[in-house]
Amino acid sequence: MANICKPTKDSHVAILAFPFGTHAAPLLSITRRLATASPTTLFSFFNTSQSNSSLFPSSDLPSNIRVHDVADGVPEGYVFSGRPQEAIELFLVAAPESFRKAISSAENDAGKKVTCLLTDAFFWFASDMAAEMKATWVAFWTAGPNSLSVHLYTDLIRQSAREKDGCMEETLGFISGMEKVRVKDTPEGVVFGNLDSVFSDTLHRMGLALPRANAVFINSFEEIDNTLTNNLKSEFKLYLNIGPLALLSSTSASQSVQEDPHGCLAWIKKQRTASVAYVSFGSVMTPPPGELVAIAEGLESSKVPFIWSLKEKSMVQLPKGFLERTREQGIVVPWVPQVELLKHEATGVFVTHCGWNSVLESVSGGVPMICRPFFGDQRLNGRAVEVVWEIGMTIIDGVFTKDGLEKCLDKVLVQDDGKKMKSNAKKLREQAHQAVSVNGSSVENFKVLLDAVVNILN
Ligand SMILES: *[C@@H]1O[C@H](CO)[C@@H](O)[C@H](O)[C@H]1NC(C)=O
Ligand SMILES: *[C@@H]1O[C@H](CO)[C@@H](O)[C@H](O)[C@H]1NC(C)=O
Ligand SMILES: *[C@@H]1O[C@H](CO)[C@@H](O)[C@H](O)[C@H]1NC(C)=O
Repeated sequence: MANICKPTKDSHVAILAFPFGTHAAPLLSITRRLATASPTTLFSFFNTSQSNSSLFPSSDLPSNIRVHDVADGVPEGYVFSGRPQEAIELFLVAAPESFRKAISSAENDAGKKVTCLLTDAFFWFASDMAAEMKATWVAFWTAGPNSLSVHLYTDLIRQSAREKDGCMEETLGFISGMEKVRVKDTPEGVVFGNLDSVFSDTLHRMGLALPRANAVFINSFEEIDNTLTNNLKSEFKLYLNIGPLALLSSTSASQSVQEDPHGCLAWIKKQRTASVAYVSFGSVMTPPPGELVAIAEGLESSKVPFIWSLKEKSMVQLPKGFLERTREQGIVVPWVPQVELLKHEATGVFVTHCGWNSVLESVSGGVPMICRPFFGDQRLNGRAVEVVWEIGMTIIDGVFTKDGLEKCLDKVLVQDDGKKMKSNAKKLREQAHQAVSVNGSSVENFKVLLDAVVNILN
């Protein structure tokens, strides 16, 4: 693969971000790397209005990245009814038109036609939009290869579920790499749940459109699952694993010094190797109050040292006196430097909701997991952790109980099962590190991605 990329002087890449959850930030960080590698290409980054105020104040952005606002799709005077996903639906329905307008004005400003649409994979309409604009389409799937497969094969999975009378225990053996996944592990909106919601429809259309993209890339590494990787390579024009991004961030200009306002790193330094349970359910999810109590009770009775990342507003749900009684045992804080904690040798287990970023960061740190999936792709990721990679286990009975958590902690931290998980996790960590090292698969794939993004077709 060519190391030196020769972009045509006029190339102009429009980056279309999905402004919810943890989607826009990794796309921006990839945009920075691309922009640094190809200084003569203009990168126009589109996000909703908070992007300027929240993310670019102390801007150290490369000068070939320009930030633009795109409409949030909320009609003037609109009153939110409080439906879940309301804001997401409004945004998605308006998105094709909103982006078209924003791109056109950015083209006028820059005096350069857009030559590539680099988008969140959700934006299936970018396929037609790119064709109209005579541009290429490069799509970023922000979750794992397993959920990507589920959305790619949604029609096939639905058909099989109909033939099998909706049996939830059936496996997806008809998809290469998904042999151990059961129907019940799939995200809502594929086989069960609301199949007609705006969001399900978006993912379904995405699965149909992605084979037309010039490239599909993902925050993962090929070796995490060679069967899935090879199958997806056969479905897409280019399928590029460029992660784990968490292992690259230290070399990226975007990364400021790791902040640690609550002293987690100072605390964990004093703990024994592989002894600590790190508990976190990501920035979106909070377990229901009953489960928060069960987690607290399970941690306390296990005597396992812990770091628990818990939103300030949920701390009132903790059992009376818990914080005082466990002061010597662990800490409960509203924010932690997760990547650093997972890299630390004292971290013995990650109690997680199994969002893709969390799972990949745990893999990158070689830390086994106790999984409590809630929705979306989390069950798929938990399934892979437990039965594909064998680097952890799902919480007993699917929800937190005091005894269940205690048993899982014992199994992972003390018993032989746990030693096996730890050694499997270490092997995966090795492969993850190799992927991002010199000549590693993710490093080579990034060069291919750069070519696909900055080079003008024909
Ligand atoms: C994108 O917009 C969303 C919502 O306005 C905001 O929360 C997020 O921080 C922005 N991200 C970037 C990278 O601009
Ligand atoms: C957002 O920030 C960019 C770069 O600083 C600036 O050029 C642009 O005008 C800003 N947009 C809005 C709507 O404030
Ligand atoms: C990387 O690949 C190049 C070309 O094949 C080779 O010359 C070089 O020694 C390799 N570097 C490492 C660290 O493997």
